[in-house]
Amino acid sequence: MKEKRRDHYYRKAKEEGYRSRAAYKLAQIHKRFGIFREGDVVVELGAAPGGWSQVALRLIGKSGFLIGVDLQKIKPIEGAVFIKGDFTDNETVERIREILGGRDVSVVISDMSPNISGVYSTDHARSIYLSEIALKFAIETLKRGGVFVVKIFEGDLIGDYVKKAKRYFGMVKLYSPKASRSSSSEIYMVAKGFKGRHETDEPAENS
Ligand SMILES: C[S@@+](CC[C@H](N)C(=O)[O-])C[C@H]1O[C@@H](n2cnc3c(N)ncnc32)[C@H](O)[C@@H]1O
Repeated sequence: MKEKRRDHYYRKAKEEGYRSRAAYKLAQIHKRFGIFREGDVVVELGAAPGGWSQVALRLIGKSGFLIGVDLQKIKPIEGAVFIKGDFTDNETVERIREILGGRDVSVVISDMSPNISGVYSTDHARSIYLSEIALKFAIETLKRGGVFVVKIFEGDLIGDYVKKAKRYFGMVKLYSPKASRSSSSEIYMVAKGFKGRHETDEPAENS
């Protein structure tokens, strides 16, 4: 059954011209929660090879703007700006800000995955580290009402992470799209209705 499902999304991506089967995860998240609107400015973290970018670009339309970053080089797509860099480096974050040039950011999405060690707790901790940096960036960058979507590998630190996000967003939910492999420990946190970075009782850690 698992194999069948994997084949299904893998084949579907090939047939429909998507660069990754992951594209369907974002499409399903959007269908469930309504992430994108036409004209949105989107920052995408961990964007290679570009399947999510294809989905997001279609939904934000020609009046939208998307900037994506990854450790890997990404083949160009019309309407997107891609940069190669490590998002955990401040220099990369600065480059993103320069390219944004003061645009109001409506959506931050992160599908960043750490290198997988196979040790559940290590992979969870590495994933939480990337997710924390993505959350900090979202808090510093999003306009009010903005949306944040992030992949996390499940584990015991997830509860505190969600709790922290709830201080900044009106709605926070964990969601596992059908296109995620059933063997995967990944889950997506969807946060909508950004309240503003000063609207909180306590500052986020690492901010
Ligand atoms: C699952 S893939 C993303 C797939 C993408 N959503 C798509 O649909 O094509 C995860 C990506 O996160 C990137 N990544 C991991 N750590 C990163 C970091 N520190 N900075 C930038 N990208 C990172 C990896 O290089 C990898 O390409």
